[in-house]
Amino acid sequence: MKRRDFIKKASVVAAGTILPMSIIEVAFADNIDGSKSGKNFTFAVISDAHLQQIKGAKFVRNWDMGLKKAIAECNLMNPKPDFVLFGGDLGQLGKAAEIDHGAEILSALRAPVKMMLGEHDYYLDLGEHWMNRFGDPYYSFDHKGVHIVVLNSILVDEKWTHKWKNPMDRMQTMAGLDDPNGSAFMVGEKQRQWLKEDLSTISNETPIIVFSHSPLQKIYKGWNFWTDDAEQIQAILKPFKKVNVIYGHVHQIQYNKIGNIAFNSVMSTAWPWPYPKTYTQGTSYMPKLTIEMNRADPFFERDATGWEMIDVHSGRVDLHFQLPNNENRTVAYNEKTQEPEDIKYQHQKIPSQRHY
Ligand SMILES: [Fe+2]
Repeated sequence: MKRRDFIKKASVVAAGTILPMSIIEVAFADNIDGSKSGKNFTFAVISDAHLQQIKGAKFVRNWDMGLKKAIAECNLMNPKPDFVLFGGDLGQLGKAAEIDHGAEILSALRAPVKMMLGEHDYYLDLGEHWMNRFGDPYYSFDHKGVHIVVLNSILVDEKWTHKWKNPMDRMQTMAGLDDPNGSAFMVGEKQRQWLKEDLSTISNETPIIVFSHSPLQKIYKGWNFWTDDAEQIQAILKPFKKVNVIYGHVHQIQYNKIGNIAFNSVMSTAWPWPYPKTYTQGTSYMPKLTIEMNRADPFFERDATGWEMIDVHSGRVDLHFQLPNNENRTVAYNEKTQEPEDIKYQHQKIPSQRHY
């Protein structure tokens, strides 16, 4: 299917609605001899649902609805996604009831589901319940010519993890956006070793997509938009020509390119985070290519949630963001500069935020 056809069909589903998920198309370029190097395919990403138990069977309704809506739209996708990746933070406080509630809602998806772990799923029982339900928190698989890796990027120093008497104190501390008693995330030595071995049999021409919950780049430590061993992971990925890192956690649009690696975030089904520099306490360390949106407002629950369509075209990534109550955005790969660019706003300031 041509990309334009895909966009058209996807837009029919999207018209007049909010799609809190990401549709990702992996398109292979034609080889010089006209043959295809792989088969095009589509998958979806839904992330950061943060389902929160109030009491017993009562959960925060808005977060439930965000996830349910994404699933409903996913089930209507045309073409159908080959699989759906859930990008982490299924629960808010890692409770078994939240994970189970999330699993039940996700069971409505009519596509195979791949799971990724977020810190909100982990720091109550160190992922025990999540792993019992969903299996290993890091793994890889091949799909139609693309090597896909899912990492657990929310680990921290063992000393920090085990210093807490009360697991809920640990969870609550990690759940805060800017709690100074939290700790920076990392992938860690064991998984880095695994990643090296996992990639040892992969040709450096093979497109690679790495999913991580936190960004595998250092954005803003104060809010844990950060992975401590990011550079070491980037070094492991360096020999490969077409690498895309797709991450959740930040609840906002970010994009960047470091060497051979294109980075893109996906949005949340629950709430937005503003860009760090909109908070007076923080200096911005946003990736250099990212252009601030004319929002986000955390007090408007659907601001900065939305959906994006991503083409992974021969390792070059285009994102088409559909934003309710705001102008749509396109972040496309510029062949001349060899960098992703926000087509409309890259070279001009975005107008100030509008409230609705
Ligand atoms: Fe997170």
